[in-house]
Amino acid sequence: MFSKIIASGAFIPKVYKTNDMLAEIMDTNDEWIKSRTGISTRHISEDKDVFEDDKLTDRLLYMSAKACEEAICMAEQKNTELRESGDQDFIFDRNNIDFVIAATSTGDYLFPSLSCRLQDSLGIKRAGVMDISLACTGFLAALQTADAYIKAGMYKNVLVVGADIMSRIVDWSDRNTGILFGDAAGAVIVSGDIRWNRGRNSDIVLSNLISDGSGDLSLYCRAMYFNESDKHSIKMDGRRVFEFAVKKVPEAIRLVIDEAENRIGEKIEPKYYVLHQANLRIIEAVARRLKKDKELFPHNIEKYANTTAATIPVLLDELNRGEKIKEGDYIVCAGFGAGLSYGASLIRW
Ligand code: ACO
Repeated sequence: MFSKIIASGAFIPKVYKTNDMLAEIMDTNDEWIKSRTGISTRHISEDKDVFEDDKLTDRLLYMSAKACEEAICMAEQKNTELRESGDQDFIFDRNNIDFVIAATSTGDYLFPSLSCRLQDSLGIKRAGVMDISLACTGFLAALQTADAYIKAGMYKNVLVVGADIMSRIVDWSDRNTGILFGDAAGAVIVSGDIRWNRGRNSDIVLSNLISDGSGDLSLYCRAMYFNESDKHSIKMDGRRVFEFAVKKVPEAIRLVIDEAENRIGEKIEPKYYVLHQANLRIIEAVARRLKKDKELFPHNIEKYANTTAATIPVLLDELNRGEKIKEGDYIVCAGFGAGLSYGASLIRW
């Protein structure tokens, strides 16, 4: 069985906050934030984003639907090009999507799920839905679930979205966490339709997902109905999360590459390592541990900060639209976050 990412999309809210703007509301400064995290700006969604929309009435739904529409549009466009080049029976439209998975920790509602509402807003008929809550590892888990469902023969075209409005749960008076996060949505379409392959052996080759739940108090946000002194905002032991990420992410990446090399019987040199964007220093430290050139680790954390479940699909979309990745290239995606949880997927684009 085979599954391939056939299209991507992203949505970033227009409004952004610079480091200097944050320095007006908390005891921090541009130099500290840039040198310790790599972040210059973060984008923030606002209620007025949705005011003019009759259907997309909530902010997370709005951002997610915009990212999904971009991905659907890209898939339909590719389908048209293929048909024009003579592949007459090649068909994709939104009604071929038979499953929708949304990864988020900042939903508009506790229920119904974001994926349910997206299905309706996007006009997708007859698709199953599921939300995944795994913070910054959420998109990776959703992608791996789509891959597994497709390879099990249950579904053929799965829309996967990672979206978060971190500004909803940031404590703007806490300089330890308030500087780190932003809002965004990213989406991909994963297909098991072999006609997309065209002999290039594209595939999500192998994945792993690992958790050490003993790290729950290193990074958490209480549910909003939790009625104690603990406020409904992000709490983090930054140093512990940093050390965990730098140690565990290279392990997950090595594991997935070693296993794939054994299985395929050839040396794998990924073109890019697309890491969850939490801190530029984490990304550079992972590159050093893997003894790889840091140029192989693309980043956009400087513009968007940590957008939790959205970082990986937004970066994938940038690379895809910028034509930085070509069919047949190996890409590693690696996520890490609350739990503590982490994992990697090796993709042949
Ligand atoms: N501005 C200025 N000074 C600051 C700020 C700030 N925004 N934040 C902390 N400081 C100060 C501290 O108070 C401390 O001062 P002190 O030495 O006088 O006590 C000093 O700077 C150093 O603080 P550290 O916490 O040691 O700074 P560090 O270099 O570890 O960087 C950071 C902190 C950026 C949070 C880093 O630890 C980090 O990125 N950790 C990982 C975060 C992460 O990956 N989170 C994942 C979240 S994803 C999810 O699942 C939701």
